Amino acid sequence: MSNRHVDYVDDVLPGNGALPPRAWYAASSAHSLSLNGSWRFRLSPTADAHDESFAAEGYDAAQWPEVRVPGHWVLQGDGAFGAPIYTNHLYPFPVDPPYVPTENPTGDHLRTFDLPDDWPADGSATLRLDGVESCARLWLNGTDLGEFKGSRLPHEFAVGHLLKPAGNVLAVRVHQWSSGSYLEDQDQWWLPGIFRDVTLLHRPAGCVLDFFAHASYDHTSGLGTLRVDSDVDGRVTVPELGIDTATGEPVTVAVEPWTAETPRLYAGELVTEGERVPLRIGFRTVALEDGLIKVNGVPVLFKGVNRHEWHPEHGRALDLDTMRRDVELMKSHNINAVRTSHYPPHPAFLDLCDEYGLWVIDECDLETHGFVEQAWRDNPVDDERWTPALLDRAARMVERDKNHPSVVMWSLGNEAGTGRGLTAMAEWIRGRDPERLVHYEGDINCRDTDVYSRMYASHAEVEQIGAHLDGGTERRRGLPFILCEYAHAMGNGPGGLTEYQRLFEAHERLQGAFVWEWIDHGIKDERYGYAYGGDFGEELHDGNFVCDGLLFPDRTPTPGLIEFKKVVEPVRIEVNTGAGTVGVTNRHDFRDLSHLTFEWSYQVDGETVEAGPLSVPPLAAGESAEVKLPAPPVDARDAETQWTVRALGADGHEVAWGAAVLTPRPVARAATGDRPVRGERLITLGPASFDPRTGELRTVGRVPVVAPRLDVWRAPTDNDAGASWQEDIRLGEEWRKLGLHRVQHRVDDVELSDDALTVRGRVAPAGREAGLRTVFRWTSDGTAVRLTVSVAPVGEWKVPLPRLGVRFGLPGGASRVRWFGGGPGEAYPDTRQASALGLWHDDVDGLQTPYVYPQENGARADVRWAEIGGLRVEGEPEFWFTARRWTTEQLDAATHRTDLVAGDTVWVNLDHGQQGIGSQSCGPGPLPQYQLRPQAAEFAFTFTEAGEA
Ligand code: GAL
Repeated sequence: MSNRHVDYVDDVLPGNGALPPRAWYAASSAHSLSLNGSWRFRLSPTADAHDESFAAEGYDAAQWPEVRVPGHWVLQGDGAFGAPIYTNHLYPFPVDPPYVPTENPTGDHLRTFDLPDDWPADGSATLRLDGVESCARLWLNGTDLGEFKGSRLPHEFAVGHLLKPAGNVLAVRVHQWSSGSYLEDQDQWWLPGIFRDVTLLHRPAGCVLDFFAHASYDHTSGLGTLRVDSDVDGRVTVPELGIDTATGEPVTVAVEPWTAETPRLYAGELVTEGERVPLRIGFRTVALEDGLIKVNGVPVLFKGVNRHEWHPEHGRALDLDTMRRDVELMKSHNINAVRTSHYPPHPAFLDLCDEYGLWVIDECDLETHGFVEQAWRDNPVDDERWTPALLDRAARMVERDKNHPSVVMWSLGNEAGTGRGLTAMAEWIRGRDPERLVHYEGDINCRDTDVYSRMYASHAEVEQIGAHLDGGTERRRGLPFILCEYAHAMGNGPGGLTEYQRLFEAHERLQGAFVWEWIDHGIKDERYGYAYGGDFGEELHDGNFVCDGLLFPDRTPTPGLIEFKKVVEPVRIEVNTGAGTVGVTNRHDFRDLSHLTFEWSYQVDGETVEAGPLSVPPLAAGESAEVKLPAPPVDARDAETQWTVRALGADGHEVAWGAAVLTPRPVARAATGDRPVRGERLITLGPASFDPRTGELRTVGRVPVVAPRLDVWRAPTDNDAGASWQEDIRLGEEWRKLGLHRVQHRVDDVELSDDALTVRGRVAPAGREAGLRTVFRWTSDGTAVRLTVSVAPVGEWKVPLPRLGVRFGLPGGASRVRWFGGGPGEAYPDTRQASALGLWHDDVDGLQTPYVYPQENGARADVRWAEIGGLRVEGEPEFWFTARRWTTEQLDAATHRTDLVAGDTVWVNLDHGQQGIGSQSCGPGPLPQYQLRPQAAEFAFTFTEAGEA
């Protein structure tokens, strides 16, 4: 073929030949045939490399390899089918809309199928494709059905007249690039393929075409009204409610409403002459009232996440189990809302949201972010030629998803600038579905939208908005506010969640927020563990910015998710040790507490000595009570005691907890009195020995120790590396410029006195005057050796320190760790809500948080004492404990998990301070109170030999 472009690929129009969009439903009485499975596949480098003869009946594709449908071809074929590309907002091709490159990977997909024996001979049939990226043309038995764009949207074709009982040939030609790619510039991998289901649906005569179930709830009367509008007349039944009515006829009855907290669904059926379709009715009313988003008359608070569809091996081709896993993980982590960033998800996901209860912002498959590079010139959303494509996308989303009670808002898309096309979409949506709200973050004046929505605004700005001090247009001033993205969960973090949550709770205008994002889009890869941008040799890419989720790619929760669960817990539990009571506040929007049980427990030095049930009244949403705790069960002198109160769900899983120390930790022994002795090769003091020249610790009892030294360096986190939106500095870079990753340790003086070994020194990077004066003062009572570290900054310091503490090495055999402190997981100054004081144990490997891009991780907070490798360390005050099988420098140099290889030393950090985490990988840095400003400090550790932990 000679034409450089295949016309429909570059055409701004959405396609040809597809049926009008309609409601999606999984089950019906009509027959259906899944065409998922193994398909023959041929990859070509251009759109026009091969003619259409492959689509003809009788074409012999026996030599073609196979691909799995649903799937993306670039994730199959062991590299033989090209590779994924990751860009955040840059188009991976020249920007010249609507044209795409001649090099346009094109996958011809072919499969044959027979109709099942019981497939009815009458009626018609529809072929449905739920998602194909980015443009497809299809043929059945050699007949051209048409072509379409709109990757994450369904397309149906009438095929009944073409079907035969056996040997049907379905051919689908998929082009990676098309004009549609300009509308799909989301921050994610570019992954071509037929990535959602392909289904043949029998359409009996008199079958259901499209229907719209309107199910509202009047909270003043407790009545629900159901009206099912249907293209084809029929009856609607909901046996449990005694409803049996004609389509189009409203019925009002007493119902239990649907909310995300109480996802009450009523099973029903729509019966037309030719088909029975199951209905799942949730009665609820969404309204914008008094400047607030209300459901059933109640303002709601979104505790949300942004969910991209992701599987580390299958990309955006998700099976039902994976979707269910996502929903279950969300529910069990106190999440109540999802924004389907940035496209309508697999339709079955919304069924799960209805069933489990999640508020959904359903977002249209639209983003044109790459035009920002040219000041939004030629942006398709402001060019009328593209409006039909935009309206097609809006309609395909709304029509498909309109029957889900979980969907409370339609979002026009993401980061598409502004323009007439968006207004047209909003108008069409309002006309079709006036019963839901419209969202679009890019509409800063809220011309087309019902909520003022922003991304990554700082705490200070959010507070201003909450207090209505933010100005803006009159329309905007009257609207509720959400952060459709915040708390960028890239790598270690996000920090600052608690402070946001307190603001949302304090100001009613602030109706919550959605963490960016749910899951890391790492691709499972033998070379790296998980691959990210650049790992496939992409010309343009954005590195590991695609790994910024609350879940690791394999869906293991990150510490960020554990923290989020704690911060947004629906019950606030505050133990008041003075009064011997616990304050319980029901932070649900709708539900009372009767579904939870409460339990108290009492810890002595971190160990639970007694526990029992706590009777808490079934407080209504928003109510609080002060509940009496029992008398402390034991009188523990010389021990630290603590109350913990937990709220448990019906299945016993922990929903919320609170704890408080009753009697504080006794002051540690002094560990003084012994006298240091200078021997020939060593200085000895109590159980410890030291190098006489450097004064560095060598052994504690039989445990060899590699020189505890002052340590201020940490492997910068993604957030350290990011540019703070307030101060416009990249801390990680500033630290490196200053040389904190290569400080030199100078010993000025090793002094023995009657009761101490004192080592004075200075720690500073080459080329800089800024440094830290250090005094290590060692004392002993004969059995323990105590190190008191005094630090004083000298010279000019302009940046916070990464950390402040000591680092030492232990023999590599050290593995088990026991500690009394915060746990079980990692914590940093602004990510420590989920860290519970207790007696914990793990091994060194288990202490690591395997961020896809290696970085500082694994600190345990508030540690009183820790035992590792036969050594016991007690801190005064409490300290941050970290241990790993590689050095900080190795961690810093690593770019993938597989770079981290255990050495023969376990490196332990005992930190007095840690710089906060923040979320400046995209957003604000740590709040001022979490910054580790260089200043004089003193802290101490007592070392003794311990049994193996
Ligand atoms: C937002 C965008 C997201 C993602 C995020 C950063 O601006 O909407 O898609 O790119 O930033 O990870």
